[in-house]
Amino acid sequence: MSAGLITLDDLTPAERVLVSAARAAAERAYCRYSGYAVGAAVESESGRIFSGSNVENASYGATMCAERSAIFGLISAGERRIQSVCVFAPGEPMAMPCGMCRQVIAEFCTDAPVLVAGPRGVLRRSFALLLPEAFRLSEAEGKP
Ligand code: THU
Repeated sequence: MSAGLITLDDLTPAERVLVSAARAAAERAYCRYSGYAVGAAVESESGRIFSGSNVENASYGATMCAERSAIFGLISAGERRIQSVCVFAPGEPMAMPCGMCRQVIAEFCTDAPVLVAGPRGVLRRSFALLLPEAFRLSEAEGKP
């Protein structure tokens, strides 16, 4: 997948910071079973950046994705809203967020830029397009 690939030069300074944080987190991935390292960085509404790595498990099913690791850090720190998301995978394919991570992102924003980054470049997507008509218990949830 390479349609819409942009370069780091096309990003805003804030977006570049987010990509750097996600890239650094990918270096800390615990991915001994798949060998597929992923790092994520999420920016909260108040501008704080939280990063996370994928953490695999011998049971496979207990594996945690990088995006959710980062989001749980944001929430555990007392933040409640996601402003932007970046996921970085140094390998192939690029790490489009999985369905479970999309549902977790939907809990904390209605829309946000999602940067999917790798050595070949960056895809900038709108979260609302990655998960249209997300399940929410009430109309108010997910709204800023
Ligand atoms: N993974 C992530 O951390 N984020 C994604 O967006 C896609 C998949 C992880 C889970 C697992 O450790 C490895 O990548 C292979 O699926």
